[in-house]
Amino acid sequence: MRTTLARIRAMHDAGQRIVMVTAYDYTSAQLAERAGIPMVLVGDSLGMVIQGHDSTLPVTMDQMVYHTAMVSRGCASPLIVADLPFGSYAVSDDAVRAAVRLMAEGGAGSVKLEGGRSVAGTVRRIVETGIPVVGHLGFTPQSVHRIGVRVQGRDEARARALLEDAVALEEAGAWLVVLELVPAPLAALITDTLGVPTIGIGAGAGCSGQVQVWQDLLGWYSDFVPRHTRRYRELGAEAVAGLREWADDVRSGAFPTDEHSTGLEPEILHRLRREAPPEGPSLPEGPSLPEGPPLPEGQP
Ligand code: KIV
Repeated sequence: MRTTLARIRAMHDAGQRIVMVTAYDYTSAQLAERAGIPMVLVGDSLGMVIQGHDSTLPVTMDQMVYHTAMVSRGCASPLIVADLPFGSYAVSDDAVRAAVRLMAEGGAGSVKLEGGRSVAGTVRRIVETGIPVVGHLGFTPQSVHRIGVRVQGRDEARARALLEDAVALEEAGAWLVVLELVPAPLAALITDTLGVPTIGIGAGAGCSGQVQVWQDLLGWYSDFVPRHTRRYRELGAEAVAGLREWADDVRSGAFPTDEHSTGLEPEILHRLRREAPPEGPSLPEGPSLPEGPPLPEGQP
């Protein structure tokens, strides 16, 4: 059964830290579920770690629906939160339509959007349609051109503004707030102030839980390693080593072996050899079929 919001709230009330990881496809969703992670985020960070863009801005609504649907097929129990991509919630009516698509076509259980008081009205409208909304404050990647990639809320005015944004999101009906690149004491203060849980990324240990990007956590992406990430595995390096080994085996003939191949009844092979066209190259006797005769001139 899929994890419910009530289950996440119960974890929060019981003082258990909440764990969330990004997933963008069927396989990563399966693995997250097998690891017992209760909540996965189909983040628009896929624009960078999957699509190779330098920001999340080019990610489209159709792509978010596509990835969310893959993740839904890959896991049965984690609660799926899907990002509303850049531009999809600038107008309130569009926002509701976009959120409905992520839920109805993608199979998400909640949507996430970036911003504080400026999006509170939109959050309220989406929540009123029955769709649970996660807020996202601090470094909000969709505003990268305005705010740059840096810790947010370091001076008093901005720290106060972030606190007010968080309260506004809760009042608008957000059931969870992600805090990204926020000074740890400020994130802890926001967490203590809100009734709803906070999920931190680069926001210290005082949040109600933590989220990380799959590729950062497992070494699957090497363009850069964010300071707030601890690499728990080096799967990218492992993959390169495995690919090199396989390529060497193909070149040396060590792969494939009979174990990876399918045989053919000797009588059938025998008859095929006898029936081979006389003008073709003669087929040598042997246990396996060589390449077919050369293609006529002009064909690739
Ligand atoms: O898109 C994403 O992966 C996110 C997380 C960094 C919180 O929003």
